Amino acid sequence: MKNPRVNGERIWQSLMEMAKNGATAKGGVCRLALSDEDKAARDLFVQWCKEAGCEVIVDRMGNLFGHRRGEDESLPPVVMGSHIDSQPTGGKFDGIFGVMAGLEVIRALNDAGVKTKAPLEVAAWTDEEGSRFPPCMVSSGVFAGEFTLEYGLSRKDLNGITLGEALDRIGYAGSVPCGARKLGTYFEAHIEQGPILDEEGIQIGVVQGVQAMRWYELHLQGQDAHSGTTPMDRRHDALGSAAEIVLELEGFAKKFGPEARATVGLITFERPSRNVVVGNLMMTIDLRHEKDEVLAEMDAELQKIVSAAAERRGVKPMLDPIWICPAVRFNQECIDLVRQSAESEGYSHIDIVSGAGHDASYIAQVAPTSMIFIPCDKGLSHNELENTSPESVRMGAQVLLDAALARAGRVL
Ligand code: GLV
Ligand code: MN
Ligand code: MN
Repeated sequence: MKNPRVNGERIWQSLMEMAKNGATAKGGVCRLALSDEDKAARDLFVQWCKEAGCEVIVDRMGNLFGHRRGEDESLPPVVMGSHIDSQPTGGKFDGIFGVMAGLEVIRALNDAGVKTKAPLEVAAWTDEEGSRFPPCMVSSGVFAGEFTLEYGLSRKDLNGITLGEALDRIGYAGSVPCGARKLGTYFEAHIEQGPILDEEGIQIGVVQGVQAMRWYELHLQGQDAHSGTTPMDRRHDALGSAAEIVLELEGFAKKFGPEARATVGLITFERPSRNVVVGNLMMTIDLRHEKDEVLAEMDAELQKIVSAAAERRGVKPMLDPIWICPAVRFNQECIDLVRQSAESEGYSHIDIVSGAGHDASYIAQVAPTSMIFIPCDKGLSHNELENTSPESVRMGAQVLLDAALARAGRVL
């Protein structure tokens, strides 16, 4: 019996409707976690889940689950999902595609009158991006037991607002314990966010796992000083040290190979002024590599670079490693199922490792998990011009439907 078809037009329309929440002038989305824009998108998601006949569960971290009953409600659900929040310079697809794909699977099964043995759920995890409340994937991390609830709720944004306060403010602090239940399987559909599928003209990425990541906050303490009167050789310029570190990090691709990634995405100054030498700053550092052991070498190198760059200017460094997420390998049966689903639909596919972090990384600790990638134009993501095609979106959702139905068991 052929599986029901997803409705490509409907999922594309849903994505475009969602993109109105936080729409930017350049055609992207700014929907920071737990902002008004995130709340509006959540409200719409909850409404659509209810219209699709799902019961909506909200847990203590504000994770949302649209539950479609299975024939046997004692079985753990097969969950499909991703995130609703975006980067400040986000696009229309990062995260929300996986949520809308999960919803489309439920809508398509409803249309076809297909029931499943195990329940199905569509999930939206809170603050995947970690842009407003670092680190990444904090709420799926709480769900998986990687972080405590207290840790999750106490994450702070740059204005000192905690994640818990922000959840209360938008009315999404649920009462259901976070992670106190079993998931049968987790599938996450996502745009690749890198150039491989697009460049090679491949329709589906069968994701094997996610590369390892480490985040740091580096505080550099130099000395505020007059820009006009302080000779250059008497300065303790924190920004000078930071500039050296940025350039050294750029060289990591030479030192550790092209798979190495090193990024300074954010620098904050304590009380900046154009005629004061920078005395204090905080800079974030994001290091990634497919191999944990190479990432550990990159960490050792970073420590050396920071000490040397700070010492040269008489600046005091405090390097705080705020997050380590080891490399993840997904469940082989789930990986194979995604490959078979792409194969049976006649879609071209390749095995691929994710360069981006995903909630699937943490959920993989507590449930058989894998991911489905679709191409995005030129691999551009975390950018307002991020784009993919309606056809790719349809194919990704269809593979998700096939894989989820196989795991949940078709009843009729
Ligand atoms: C999440 O988007 C990440 O990979 O940083
Ligand atoms: Mn994402
Ligand atoms: Mn992202």
